[in-house]
Order: sequence, then structure tokens, then C-alpha cells
Amino acid sequence: MLLEGKSVVVTGGNSGIGKGIVLAMAKEGASVVIDYVAHEDATDRLIAEVEQAGGRAVGVEADITRADDLHRMMRTAVDSFGRLDVLVNNAGMETRQSLLDTTEEDYEKVMSVNMKSAFFASQAAAKQFIEQGGGGLILNISSVHEEWPMPGNIAYCVSKGGMRMLTRTAGVELGPHGVRMVNIAPGAVDTPINASTTSNKDLLGKLQDAIPLRKLADPSDIADVAVFLASGRAAYMTSTTVTVDGGISQGSVGL
Ligand code: BGC
Repeated sequence: MLLEGKSVVVTGGNSGIGKGIVLAMAKEGASVVIDYVAHEDATDRLIAEVEQAGGRAVGVEADITRADDLHRMMRTAVDSFGRLDVLVNNAGMETRQSLLDTTEEDYEKVMSVNMKSAFFASQAAAKQFIEQGGGGLILNISSVHEEWPMPGNIAYCVSKGGMRMLTRTAGVELGPHGVRMVNIAPGAVDTPINASTTSNKDLLGKLQDAIPLRKLADPSDIADVAVFLASGRAAYMTSTTVTVDGGISQGSVGL
């Protein structure tokens, strides 16, 4: 198993890409901490699934937009599994609004869930890694939209652009401590965040046509890369982004 004995925190771990990562990492021997705010039942079901497969997972009630709660998640990993090896900043949301439509409230929500949570969870994890010694890994689930504009979804793009710079800068700051930081930039993935597209036949067709591989990713496609990055096989990768998008961000109308 690639992650035997590793202790992992996954924010937003009870649905979508996060759930895929929890299942894939647990299958490779990792013990996992998952947060919930509203959906304790979804977290409980996922923990049961992990345990049935012989893995270990614990749930924590936490508001990932609050630095104190994020610290508590890292503490839970240490208290439950003896240490922390990997943080996955996965929690994310989008509002699909343009610059002209975005309210202050929506902007703050998107920035808090996507950007502020990644920033302060990384800070809490990095302090733990340095205290326990031996390095550590922070994986951010970013998006192709960390550098590719998505008109009509601007706050999301701004938050993901922030994650890109968080990884580049913090990766440099933390490198001397043996702490690595890498972004995964998925394209379109079949998760609840894309439900408004996948439930509409026309929109889904358009999206598939825009993807060179002609299909959305499954969460496991992203989770497989997360497992690779957390394994000993990616030990020299830091401060960078791995794009997993079926080619969507290279597409062009050819005019
Ligand atoms: C967004 C989706 C979008 C996809 C591909 C993702 O980051 O959440 O709304 O379809 O990128 O553009």
C-alpha cells in the first residue's frame, strides 16, 4: 500500500472530489480526518464505508472558514492517529456570477471557503509538521481556473488564482522544513458542484465537446493523482501545479 500509516486531513471530505480522495487514500492505508458542518450523516456514512474496507477515519464538526476550527482538525489527527502527514485543502464552492452580479456577501463566502480555509489550514498543518519534524505535504484542490478565466464565475477564479500563489509562495517558504505544497488543478469533474451542467443534456453535451478526452473526470481520476503526490514517488515535487483536465484548458476554436 502506498500510504500505509499516514495520517491525513481532508477538508470538505464528505462529497465530490474530497470523498474520492478519502476513499482512495484510505484504500492505500491512510487514516483520515473529515470535517462536516451540515452533513454529519454523509460523514458518518463515509466513515462506515472506510471502516468496512478495513481503514480508519474520524469526523470532526468544524467550520472550515474559521482558523480555530482548522487548528482543531489538525489536533484531531494528532490525537487520533499520533501525527499529521498530509493536509488536503479540498473544500470549495462557486456561485457562477460575473463581476457585475457578485454581491459582497457572495464574494466573501467564496473567498472564505476556497481561499481563507486553504490559507489557515495550511498554516495550522505547517506548524504541526515543523513541530513533529520529518516534513509533510499540503495538497490543494485548485482548478484549471487558477489561471484560465471562466467568465461568469469570477469570484471562484479569483479564489483559485489565490490558491495558485499560496502554493507557490508557501511552498518556497516551507521547503527548507521539508514541507511540500502542490496544487492539483482539475477540469470538469462529475461532482455536485457541476450538477447544474450535468443535469442539463444540452449543457453537458457542450461541455463534453469542449474536452479533448470527451468526458468529465470521475472523482477517482483526481484522487489517483492525489495518492501519487502523497506517496514517496513524488517526493521532489513542490510549489507547483499538476493539471488533470482531460485537455480542456488547451482547447481552442481553431480560428
Ligand atoms: C468548475 C466547473 C467548470 C470546470 C471546467 C471547475 O473548476 O468548478 O464549474 O465546469 O472547472 O471549466
